[in-house]
Amino acid sequence: MNRTLLSALAAIATLSITVAIAAPVNYTLPEETAAFKPGPNLEVVQNNCSGCHSADYIRTQPQNEKSKKDFWQAEVTKMIKVYGAPIDNADVGKIVDYLAATY
Ligand code: HEC
Repeated sequence: MNRTLLSALAAIATLSITVAIAAPVNYTLPEETAAFKPGPNLEVVQNNCSGCHSADYIRTQPQNEKSKKDFWQAEVTKMIKVYGAPIDNADVGKIVDYLAATY
């Protein structure tokens, strides 16, 4: 056996020992900092709008739209039609009202 092969084998052996004795790593995730602002129908929005992305997506939208209601109506429709958000038709109005009044 030549030297290179020997040291390669040694390296592999060391590696597997290291893997075998590696302690489990525990992660503490940071607190969720993005939250929906308080407002009417907050729970409906939390239930329907936090499954795929954080509330930051809502907070960072332009705030100077001519009609906030039209803007949010279009956003909610897009979430449903384009991204497949499973939102009950009966909740759409409540969500749009909340978003237009709060953001
Ligand atoms: C089924 C998953 C899903 C749900 C549920 C969902 N979204 Fe989204 N949303 C997306 C995806 C995907 C994007 C685009 C992500 C990207 O571009 O990085 C997005 C992006 C957005 C954006 C950024 C602007 C844009 O148009 O891309 C806003 C605002 C937004 N969502 C609002 C909402 C609101 C309000 C709700 C609740 C009514 C909601 N989302 C629920 C998937 C979802």
